[in-house]
Amino acid sequence: MKYGSGPARPAIVMVAALGRNRAIGARNGLPWRLRTDLRRYRDVTMGKPMVMGRKTFDSIGKALPGRETIVVTRDPQFAAVGVLVARDPEMALALAADRARAMGADEIVIAGGGEIYAGLMGRADILRLTEVELTPDADAFFPVIDQSVWRETARETHLAGPGDEAPFAFVEYRRSGLRPPTANKRVKAAPRAALTA
Ligand SMILES: NC(=O)c1ccc[n+]([C@@H]2O[C@H](COP(=O)([O-])OP(=O)(O)OC[C@H]3O[C@@H](n4cnc5c(N)ncnc54)[C@H](OP(=O)(O)O)[C@@H]3O)[C@@H](O)[C@H]2O)c1
Repeated sequence: MKYGSGPARPAIVMVAALGRNRAIGARNGLPWRLRTDLRRYRDVTMGKPMVMGRKTFDSIGKALPGRETIVVTRDPQFAAVGVLVARDPEMALALAADRARAMGADEIVIAGGGEIYAGLMGRADILRLTEVELTPDADAFFPVIDQSVWRETARETHLAGPGDEAPFAFVEYRRSGLRPPTANKRVKAAPRAALTA
């Protein structure tokens, strides 16, 4: 099964928090505490299908409410309450696209970790990242963001708030050549009377 490329397909959005060294994880956990980012994570993933590697699912420990969790694993025995299972990333995308249509979601979230980001970087349309002003020891990393492929389209910088270990920025990248969603919307023609009034 191959994920389609038709005009109505949901956007594939990678959501990740990464350090200056592209660190995303250490010992199957996050290498920082950022309460503001956890709140934002909830907002940007709510109501959408999420594709994640089995290790990331283990680190979260359960299916997140209000979202559809699709776990990628080679383990034919793997099963967990409230999750769908995919045997490879491509199957996960196809499953996520079906679920997105059923849920009325216009985005599929790629939720990591390092192996899954690396495996699906070439399929992503949008990177919705939290760039954290830290350089922690890590054993999982986000892929290199090739500036000839990705262009920054939004950046919102934040000082560390209560429960945040460091300052950070919410940054969005879009694949070069990909139009922002509003550019795809048809502008409704004004009624003739309005034009001549
Ligand atoms: N900072 C962030 O935004 C963020 C987000 C998510 C995760 N993380 C962190 O990232 C770390 C986990 O990342 P990770 O790279 O170690 O693991 P991962 O990508 O979460 O999961 C890896 C597992 O996914 C399955 N998998 C990967 N590629 C596959 C393929 N082509 N076909 C079938 N199954 C495949 C395998 O599961 P099986 O072994 O079961 O076969 C593999 O062991 C943790 O520290 C986590 O906290 C950080």
